[in-house]
This record gives sequence, structure tokens and C-alpha cells, in this order.
Amino acid sequence: MTDSAEAPPIRPKAQEIRDFLHYPGWLSGAEQMALVADLRAVVAQAPLFSPMTPQGRPMSVRMTSAGRFGWVSDRRGYRYSETHPAGMPWPAIPETILAIWRAVSGTDRDPECCLINFYGEGARMGLHQDRDEADFTQPVVSISLGDDGLFRIGNETRGGATQSLWLHSGDVLVMGGAARLRHHGIDRIAPGTSLLLPQGGRLNLTLRVVT
Ligand code: SIN
Ligand code: MN
Repeated sequence: MTDSAEAPPIRPKAQEIRDFLHYPGWLSGAEQMALVADLRAVVAQAPLFSPMTPQGRPMSVRMTSAGRFGWVSDRRGYRYSETHPAGMPWPAIPETILAIWRAVSGTDRDPECCLINFYGEGARMGLHQDRDEADFTQPVVSISLGDDGLFRIGNETRGGATQSLWLHSGDVLVMGGAARLRHHGIDRIAPGTSLLLPQGGRLNLTLRVVT
């Protein structure tokens, strides 16, 4: 069999955890490498930056975006913006990434933002809700690449019991329906658990319909 006749990957079934749909290992190794190549092209046009919280504290993740909108944070607050902090429009969302959304999102709309978060050693993301979008009937789809990340799921209101799961490279997670407004965050990454990114670390993509 030649390379071009490679069989299509067998997709895992979703595992439901607190209304989130987790597809462990959705992406094959080859697909993950193709995604990283596409993301390199995005980052070459729209470099990663270190956002500030509205309170003036630097976030530990570095970020950039693709799509009509990117998510930004600075002294003026959290919001979607049609331009990178350096002033240019965001690059288009790569087709490889749109294909994942179309396979798992369950909606006819396409995402308008692909937020790209990079977690180096020690980076984390506190429990938060994704609520800067106009239509909460549209899901958020998350794709993990590189080192493992410890994902924590809370509740729609602040506080209460939480549940954690490790997200591995190639995992896809759908936050829709009853999960759409649940608090979630990343407690820590486990450095050195993946060889996908030559310099290590974790990339997380979240796809969102904004308008
Ligand atoms: C996010 O909530 O924006 C990112 C979640 C993750 O890094 O898995
Ligand atoms: Mn989020």
C-alpha cells in the first residue's frame, strides 16, 4: 500500500464528562503534525503575545488567533477584536482545523475565531467561563496538542465540586449544551510528556462562533 492509499483514521467515540464531550485521541499523529505545520504559518503572520488581565497582571499563557476575530485581553478588558495587538487582521483559520469543527460541533455555522493558547512550563489558566460570544447555543470546540494538560471542570455558578481530567495531544473536547457555560481551566501542564512540539509545551486551540 502506498502513502496516498492510507486508510482514514478510526475516530474514537465521545466520553461524556459533566456534559463535556471528550474525544480522546481524535487526531492521528500525522494529523497532529500537519496541524502544527499549519499553526506555524499562522504564528508567522500573527505572532504569539503575552496578554495582560484587565487588572494589569500578565497571563502565563501566550496567545494569538486565526479567523475573523481574535480574543484579546488588556487594560480595556476581555473582548474579541478584528485585529492583532500589532494592528494587522488575523490569518484565516486553516482548513485542517475547520474540518475538525465540522466533524464534532453539531452546528451548521463555522467558527469565527480560533484562539491559540501556548502553555510553557508553569503556565496555567484559572477557572473561567467563555462568555464573550453572542450565542451560547453555539459550542466551543477545544483541540489539544503537545504536552498533557490537567483540565478542571466546575459548574455554571462559581464554586462547588470540580472534576479533573488530563487532556493529551490529539484530544478534542466539545463544550456545548449544558457544558457551554461551565467554568473550566488548566491547573498545570506536564512538561516532557509529548514529543510533538520540538521545544515542548502545550498548544490549545479553541474554536468559537463569536457573533
Ligand atoms: C480555554 O479555556 O480557553 C483553554 C482551555 C485549555 O487550554 O484546554
Ligand atoms: Mn475557556
